[in-house]
Amino acid sequence: MTTTIKLGANETAIAPLGIGTWAWGDKLFWSYGKDYASSDLQAAYEAALAAGICLFDTAEIYGLGESERLLGQFMQQSHEPVQVATKYFPLPWRFSPSAVADALTASLRRLQVPTVALYQVHWPFDFFMGQKALMNALADEVQQGRIRAIGVSNYSAEQMRQAHQFLAERGVPLAVNQMQYSLLARQIERNGVMQAARDLGVVILAYSPLAQGLLTGKYTSENYIQPSGARRLDPKFSQGGLQKLAPVIEALQRVGAAHDRTPAQVALNWLIAQGNVIPIPGAKTASQVQQNAGALGWSMTETEQAQIDAVTRPWL
Ligand SMILES: NC(=O)c1ccc[n+]([C@@H]2O[C@H](COP(=O)([O-])OP(=O)(O)OC[C@H]3O[C@@H](n4cnc5c(N)ncnc54)[C@H](OP(=O)(O)O)[C@@H]3O)[C@@H](O)[C@H]2O)c1
Repeated sequence: MTTTIKLGANETAIAPLGIGTWAWGDKLFWSYGKDYASSDLQAAYEAALAAGICLFDTAEIYGLGESERLLGQFMQQSHEPVQVATKYFPLPWRFSPSAVADALTASLRRLQVPTVALYQVHWPFDFFMGQKALMNALADEVQQGRIRAIGVSNYSAEQMRQAHQFLAERGVPLAVNQMQYSLLARQIERNGVMQAARDLGVVILAYSPLAQGLLTGKYTSENYIQPSGARRLDPKFSQGGLQKLAPVIEALQRVGAAHDRTPAQVALNWLIAQGNVIPIPGAKTASQVQQNAGALGWSMTETEQAQIDAVTRPWL
């Protein structure tokens, strides 16, 4: 199993597991302030560092800046080295390359840091700036030292190759493509993104790696509990959706039992075992972080990997 990974030309090697912070401060999709508070998130942050996990994924739009602000506060209070990955959203009115510099300035201010480990383009929208101008603006920021590596998110294989080419002209590697990737969302294995990432030496940051909680096994049709926030509207969380999921959870439990691990740990471990993949599970509490950190430090057998592959083939 991969033990450490480097992001682009960044010298620091990190564990192949991060923490996603979309839910930190977000009230639109998640239910920040109702089911969990900033004290839970600070405990989650500290639990991550204690478990040797130092990569935190955020974005300027998460909680309309609140995720970055909370992360900034926690970093100020703990002083431990952290790798921050944040994101730029290519909104239509951001048509000039200076918009990249302005958005980054605002993110760095909220995070209270002079530089971030990774700056990602959240969606491959072109609007008026165009990919070449966007990649050049990002390369300028690498040269100025405000970002150490460049990433993209939700880019197709072709879009990745194009971004990689534009950056190569500036002598800067494309470090990551952040994509939805879980045992219930395996599209990148067949649509060319995984192959392009391998060809280009780009790391996949796997978002929603627990299928927004489904792969933890806590949502079942027998003991039905409604998820919080907007997930209520998702048919995968309905009784019918959970019934379809049951064989997957059983397989995760079976493999987990052989290694004394939970379904969430098995689901994350399987992604890491694909190589070149860093899952970034979202966590709201210290205990979720501690559990997810148990995805590291062990390997399932090839037979077990194949069993999980077989049961999740319908999601490929
Ligand atoms: N680039 C993009 O377009 C994009 C899109 C989506 C997400 N992301 C990134 O990816 C990160 C993760 O994705 P995600 O939050 O959508 O989905 P996820 O990581 O698959 O699921 C996170 C949710 O699962 C539950 N959970 C996590 N660990 C658990 C554990 N050990 N035991 C029980 N429940 C647990 C928690 O919700 P409950 O406790 O409420 O069930 C948590 O909020 C985000 O935070 C964000 O950084 C990026």
